[in-house]
Amino acid sequence: MAKKTPTQRSVQWFGREDIYGFIYRSWVKNRGVPQDQFDGRPVIGICNTWSELTPCNTHFRVIAEHVKAGVLEAGGFPLEFPVMSLGETLLRPTAMLYRNLASMDVEESIRGNPLDGTVLLVGCDKTTPSLLMGAASVDLPAIAVSGGPMLSGKYRGTDIGSGTNVWSMSEDLRAGKISLEEFHEAESCMHRSHGHCMTMGTASTMASMVEALGVGMPGNAAIPAVDARRNVLARAAGRRVVQMVKENLTLSKILTKQAFENAIRVNAAIGGSTNAVIHLIAIARRIGVDLKIADWDRCGRNVHTLLNLMPSGKYLMEDFFYAGGLPAVIRELGEAGLLHKNALTVNGETIWANNKDAPCWNRDVIHSFKKPFKKNTGIAVLRGNLCPGGAIIKPSAATPRLMKHRGKAVVFENIEDFHRRIDDPKLEINARSIMVLKNCGPKGYPGMAEVGNMPLPPKLLKKGVTDMVRISDARMSGTAYGTVVLHVAPEAAAGGVLALVENGDIIELDVAKRKLNLMVSKSELQKRKRRWKAPGPALERGYWKLYHDHVLQASDGADLDFLVGKSGPLVPRDNH
Ligand code: FES
Repeated sequence: MAKKTPTQRSVQWFGREDIYGFIYRSWVKNRGVPQDQFDGRPVIGICNTWSELTPCNTHFRVIAEHVKAGVLEAGGFPLEFPVMSLGETLLRPTAMLYRNLASMDVEESIRGNPLDGTVLLVGCDKTTPSLLMGAASVDLPAIAVSGGPMLSGKYRGTDIGSGTNVWSMSEDLRAGKISLEEFHEAESCMHRSHGHCMTMGTASTMASMVEALGVGMPGNAAIPAVDARRNVLARAAGRRVVQMVKENLTLSKILTKQAFENAIRVNAAIGGSTNAVIHLIAIARRIGVDLKIADWDRCGRNVHTLLNLMPSGKYLMEDFFYAGGLPAVIRELGEAGLLHKNALTVNGETIWANNKDAPCWNRDVIHSFKKPFKKNTGIAVLRGNLCPGGAIIKPSAATPRLMKHRGKAVVFENIEDFHRRIDDPKLEINARSIMVLKNCGPKGYPGMAEVGNMPLPPKLLKKGVTDMVRISDARMSGTAYGTVVLHVAPEAAAGGVLALVENGDIIELDVAKRKLNLMVSKSELQKRKRRWKAPGPALERGYWKLYHDHVLQASDGADLDFLVGKSGPLVPRDNH
C-alpha cells in the first residue's frame, strides 16, 4: 500500500470501500487499470491542450506519453484529460476572448476529478495563461510543461521568424517589393516542424515566464519541440510532480510575489511580449498575489534586454537554446542583483540553485548584463489623461526617436474602419501623424485582439517610412514591433478618453517621462462625452455576453471579475 499524504484528494474517490468506491474505480478499470493502482498512490492529471485546431500543440499526445511514463516511474497514477485548446492562428475573433473560458474549464476539470496534482501541457500563446490561471484557482501541486518552439524558419538562405517576418513580408507585398509567389513560398518555409512560434513572441515569452516563475522545470523555455530533450523534460516533470504531491508543494508556495517580480525582470531581459503583462497580472490575482501594472514599470526599470532575438533582434529560439537558454539569462540577472534568489521552484530547489552555474555559449545571442543588447528596455507603463488606468509600450521593439513625439491624431473608429481606409491614397496622413485605433479592447472587439500594431499606409511605406506612433486599446502580437502604445485603459468601449479622440487632435507621447496625453481641454472632452454612446455586447447571449458584462480592463489582467481569486482544492459532494 502506497503511503497516503493527509491532503491527498484521490483517496476520497478511489480509497472507498462502499458503493461510491465501486463506482469511482470500476469505470476507470474499463481500459485495463489493475486493482493495485488504486492503493493510494498520487493521481496525476495530465491537462492536455492537444488539438488539430491549435497547430502549435499538435505534438502534445507524444509529450503526454512521456509525462505518463515519468509519473508511472515515480509510482504515481497518470490520468490524461483534454481541456479547451486555444489556437492563436485560427480562432476568431481572437483566442484571448476565450482565455478566461478555458481557465474555467481547467479549474473545474481539476477540482471535480480525483486528482492530487497536475501537469499542464501548454504551448500556443493563450494555452499557458489559461491553464496556469485555472490551476492557480485550485492550488494543487502542478508543473507546467511547454511544448517547445519550432525549428528556425529557413527561406532562400535566410532565417525567417514566426510572425515577425509575416509582418515584414506582408508590408513588402503591399509595397510591391516581393511577388505573391515568394509570399506563398515563405509560408511553407516558416513553419516547418512541430512547436510554437520560434521568435520571442508570446508563446516563447510565456514558456520563459513558466521557467522564471519556477512553475516549470529548468530549461523549459527554449528546448525545441522536436529535440529529444523536450521529451526528457516532460518525463522529468512527470516524475517530479509525484514527489510534489508527497511534499504538498502547492502552486501558492511557488507563485509568490517574489516569483512574479523575477518573471517581470526576466521578461525585460528577454525582450518579451507585452501580452505577458496581462497574463501575469491575471495569474497572480488568481493565486492571491496583488500584482499591479505599476509593478511592471518598477521592476522592469534598469533591466536591459540581453537577447538578440526577433522581434527585437535577429536570432530565433533554436539559437537561444544552443546558446544556453533561459538559465544563462537568469544567471546574468542574479549576478546583477536583479533576482530574488530564494524563490522556490517546482524541482524543490531555489531559482538561484538551478541557474547560478548556467553557461553561455554564444554572447552574440545572449549578451551579458554589462554589455547588453539594448539598454533599459523594461516595459514602460504610461499615464496621462488618455490612459488614466495605464497603457504600455515595449521600448525594445520601438524606434528610439519616436519615444518622444508630438503629432496629430488620425483616428480609426474600429478595425473595419481601419481596413477600409488605410490603403486609400487620399488618406490624410504623414510620417509624423499618430495613428489611433478605438474599440479593440476587451469589451470592444470583443476579446482585445492583437491589432494594435496597425500596418502603415502603403503611400508612406513606399516613401520608406518604417515606423510611426500607434495608439490603441488593443494588444499586439508578441512577434510584432514598432512604436506601439497598447492596452489603453479604460478602453474606448468602456467610455475611456480614447473614445473621444478626433482627427487632428494633438497627442503627446514621452516614454522617458511615462506620459501619454491628449491635448484637448477638459470642457471639450466633457462635451464630446455627452455625445458618446456606450456600445453593447456583440452578441446578446452566451459566453460573449457573459464576457462583455464581467471582463476587467487590461490593467487588471482582463480576467472575469468573478474569477479573480481561488476556491482551493475542496472535494465536492459525491455524485450519486
Ligand atoms: Fe501558436 Fe504563435 S501561433 S505560438
